[in-house]
Amino acid sequence: ILVSPDPEQTAARAAEAVLAGLDRSSRRPSVLGLATGSSPLGLYRELGRAVAAGRADFSTTHGVALDEYVGLPPGHPEGYRQVLLREVCDVVGLAPDRLEVPDGSSTDGAALEAAAAAYEQRIRDLGGVDVQVLGIGANGHLGFNEPGSALTSRTRVKRLSARTRRDNARFFRGLDDVPTHCLTQGLGTILGARRLVLVATGDAKADAVAAALEGPLTASVPASVLQWHADTVVCLDEAAAAGLR
Ligand code: F6R
Repeated sequence: ILVSPDPEQTAARAAEAVLAGLDRSSRRPSVLGLATGSSPLGLYRELGRAVAAGRADFSTTHGVALDEYVGLPPGHPEGYRQVLLREVCDVVGLAPDRLEVPDGSSTDGAALEAAAAAYEQRIRDLGGVDVQVLGIGANGHLGFNEPGSALTSRTRVKRLSARTRRDNARFFRGLDDVPTHCLTQGLGTILGARRLVLVATGDAKADAVAAALEGPLTASVPASVLQWHADTVVCLDEAAAAGLR
């Protein structure tokens, strides 16, 4: 657990943890797991700076998204494929054709189940994820694994909680436009990554961070599975760390 004075230094330390994790894995090309949301934006910008300084190169790296909304038309600006193209590919030079995102474009249950299974297979074919970047929801969710998610779950369709839909309404015209379902890597899928790097900043995350890191391992706090992983780096600013003993 690395606590920094502010979000900028938190992002810088998280970027170093990502680069060290990718360096340590001798597999080439490497596989970087990508979260969306506000938390990792500074980290992605730091990775972009490392590329500009010649300290990193993502041109052959595979990017693997954590999750995707269900039912947004392909190309929707808030669909996570588009978000990751803007916030990661454009920033760090990851090739768009090496970006993997679950296919949530259908609303048909069988098609979504097939998309989830195909995504698990794709991750296996890539040899697994070397470093998975994570944020945490104010309710303790990880990816879109909401409270109550099975600790060994794999990629599947989930209903978004009312809290998460409210939290994400800021990216849409209003709450009614926020999808109700998503495809998300499961907690078991996430735990399969060789290194996890979680970024959390701000006091709105303090309770979730404390429950995840110091509370019991429980499906009520999905991010508590971090305690189960042998190589987890948690990068916090002082506000997000305020609930830790
Ligand atoms: C995003 C994701 C979510 C977010 C979490 C925090 O791919 O899987 O778990 O990481 O909702 O969101 P922010 O960072 O916007 O507070």
